Amino acid sequence: MPFPIEPFRIKVVEAIPTTTREQRKAALIEAGYNVFNVRSDMILIDMLTDSGTSAMSDNQWAGVMQGDEAYAQCRNWFHFADAVRDIFGYPHVIPCHQGRAAENYLFENLVSAGQLVLSNTHFDTTRAQVQHHRGLPTDLVIREGRDPAVEHPFKGNVDLEHAERVIAEEGVEKIAFGFLTITNNSGGGQPVSLANAKAFAELMHRHGLKMLYDTARYAENAWFVKQREQGQSGRSVKEIAQEMFSYGDGAWMSAKKDALVNIGGFVALADEELARGVTNSVILNEGFATYGGLAGRDLEAMARGLLEGLDEDYLAYRIGQVEELGRQLTEAGVPIIRPTGGHAIYLDARAILSHIPQANYPGVAMTAALYRDYGIRGVEIGSLMFAEPDPETGEVRYPEMELVRLCVPRRVYTASHLQYVVDSIIELAGRAGEIKGLELTYAAPMLRHFTARFKEVG
Ligand code: F0G
Repeated sequence: MPFPIEPFRIKVVEAIPTTTREQRKAALIEAGYNVFNVRSDMILIDMLTDSGTSAMSDNQWAGVMQGDEAYAQCRNWFHFADAVRDIFGYPHVIPCHQGRAAENYLFENLVSAGQLVLSNTHFDTTRAQVQHHRGLPTDLVIREGRDPAVEHPFKGNVDLEHAERVIAEEGVEKIAFGFLTITNNSGGGQPVSLANAKAFAELMHRHGLKMLYDTARYAENAWFVKQREQGQSGRSVKEIAQEMFSYGDGAWMSAKKDALVNIGGFVALADEELARGVTNSVILNEGFATYGGLAGRDLEAMARGLLEGLDEDYLAYRIGQVEELGRQLTEAGVPIIRPTGGHAIYLDARAILSHIPQANYPGVAMTAALYRDYGIRGVEIGSLMFAEPDPETGEVRYPEMELVRLCVPRRVYTASHLQYVVDSIIELAGRAGEIKGLELTYAAPMLRHFTARFKEVG
């Protein structure tokens, strides 16, 4: 049995449409070769993101029916706050509608213009939110975390010496705070070890700075710690997460990932004064402090989802799916980021489509072909997302990697769906020479990957 058995049975189903290659080819041309522009009912397996795409359980749906829609102090708020306090250990809990909202309200209260924010790696919305508050995002992941081929158990770890050096060179007053993204999404969903988190927290505290966590995939991170870090195999994933949070001063979460909900997020903090500031920002922008832009039923789904996300049978299956995808692709010689992380596999499009120069977007071309020929939607993480002109010479600077990220939504696709994905990728990689490069026909001035349009070269 190559893929792990699903630790659930299916009670409700959602039909996915069957489309022909001809129909998808027409849809792709209409979409300007950008799969963000393809209607979701034209997609067979949607691996664009693992965010907000989870299947909720019968227990969560039952909770939805028990939503208390009182404006203030609804009963679901208490269930939700108790769940967060239990796992994260921080007394002050502030709900909001998703991760980037949490980032906005937190950074509004933590970052002054010109200050550096230190992290293993900022996810792109986090980076944009820091910049929005005129801070300077500074990524300090270890060297192994930047090399797709190198095997290392904790490729999300922060380079402590580098962090120490930055603080010494810049001076402590130029640093706003430090945080760890667990798991490190932009680095391939790679985990951070307990030892690294503890040492980073100690370093920040030695300088009187706060250390927080961006916890979208914290349960997956704790699962990897249990599997890989010495002395951790006998502990529960929840205990490991609790210990990791005990080192820090607070956390924020896009609950759309490991809390198994379609919408939701929060900030949780140890410091009362900071929590007051964030609460006031939330009241101004999202709504009263006990609902934060969500319905009571959403808070209930989140309270239950937070606990389900720590279930170890679920995590074994979840991480096992991603691992098996990676194992089969690697065995077939398809280059991907190794080792596989928690929520996605990342195809090395630069290596697979070596005949397409970076100027012709191999990652976008591979994403388009995967959709057209197999109905699978992934997302490019390469030149479309990151190439930018050098501010002095105007010459385009290309990123090191051209990746196609294929996320696995939680509890949504079965072993046979994923077998189809593996077989499709292997077949496509085997005839990669047929895939043509692309030329941009439209690009917005910022975050252009969402709306860019292309035509085929030649
Ligand atoms: N932090 C991390 C590590 C994330 O992966 C995301 C979202 C956010 C913050 C922002 O949260 O979407 O709820 O506002 N990641 C999604 C993704 C969008 O596809 O990886 P949000």
